[in-house]
Amino acid sequence: MVFGHQSHYTGRMFTPPSAGQRLHLNFNENNLGISPLAREALEGCLTQVNRYPDAPHAELVAALAEHHGVSAAQVVLGAGSSQSIHVIIEAVSRRAQDAGQPTQVVMPLPTFDAGLTASAARRLPVRGIPLLDNLEADLKGLRAACEDFAGQSIVYLCNPNNPTGTVVSSAELKAWVQSAPQTFFLIDEAYVEFVTDTRFEEADAWVREGLPNVCVVRTFSKLHGLAGLRVGYSLSTAEDAGLFAGFVPEMPVNLPGLLAARASLADTEFQRRSLEQTLQARDIVVQTLDRLGLRYVGPNGNFVFHELPASVGGNRSYRHRMSELHIVVGRDFPAYEGWNRLSLGTPDEMRHMTAQMMEVLGQVE
Ligand SMILES: Cc1ncc(COP(=O)(O)O)c(C=O)c1O
Repeated sequence: MVFGHQSHYTGRMFTPPSAGQRLHLNFNENNLGISPLAREALEGCLTQVNRYPDAPHAELVAALAEHHGVSAAQVVLGAGSSQSIHVIIEAVSRRAQDAGQPTQVVMPLPTFDAGLTASAARRLPVRGIPLLDNLEADLKGLRAACEDFAGQSIVYLCNPNNPTGTVVSSAELKAWVQSAPQTFFLIDEAYVEFVTDTRFEEADAWVREGLPNVCVVRTFSKLHGLAGLRVGYSLSTAEDAGLFAGFVPEMPVNLPGLLAARASLADTEFQRRSLEQTLQARDIVVQTLDRLGLRYVGPNGNFVFHELPASVGGNRSYRHRMSELHIVVGRDFPAYEGWNRLSLGTPDEMRHMTAQMMEVLGQVE
């Protein structure tokens, strides 16, 4: 039995999930598919993969520089923005080490893991600052942790944050960035396109303005749906970009990734559809949570962090109930045992998901 609409991008109709085809709503991926132009680029590149991708690398860098209004010397590609995060933490801490300064990495917790794993790889101490009661990052607490420390602080801040989907006020953050030139700010904007909170401003503007202590990382894994190809990048001063480039392997993104990313960047129609579908999916989830009377925060990403009714018995038990329905929802976040991060699929998928959610979460009250 098939339901709903045929996907313009995959050509498939929505079919309810089954044991052989589970519905994945756990990794903040893009279930819509990819841009047809990216697909064409991928299919067409097979005859070129015997060549090193120097020119496509330079072309993607140039296209990103134009897109963000910066110079090509300010853009450094990574094999996913996860690699960019590792590279930046390594490079900034080495620079501090060369200047005889210790480094600490300061971040709200919970947040995306790459900041923690990159710090652990370099044996850097992490100051994790718990979220506020409204689950937003505690800017004052983060700032106090930096002011306490004699040395180089690197603030790793996902805006919006994962797993919560909350943002911090860009005005407050920018004022802090400007008043603390000795602190380095690594701002992760993986979900930038999905933000609807009006307190948010894209931090690439701060790189354009020339703020020297800020670096922004972006990814093609979310809006563009190219997670499997691993394409991310950083924007910073040209001087810092030169430093970072020294820590990235030569041409970290392979030819298919470079060509697909460039094609997708040019495909504004796909980006528009991808955003529209995600926001529709988000509305479907939010309306269901409202009907169930469950709290949620944000949401400003392609996922919704929401409360579970106490009677469902915590996140693990909820995951188990959903997996019996062939739906995979988000993992545990230890400090938020009674919450779940639900990644958004297509609107058809979320209509199915929320009907199941009403059954599972509605009946336990
Ligand atoms: C905040 C954040 N940054 C970065 C990433 C990783 O992106 P990439 O696939 O570019 O490594 C994720 C992935 O979930 C994320 O949530």
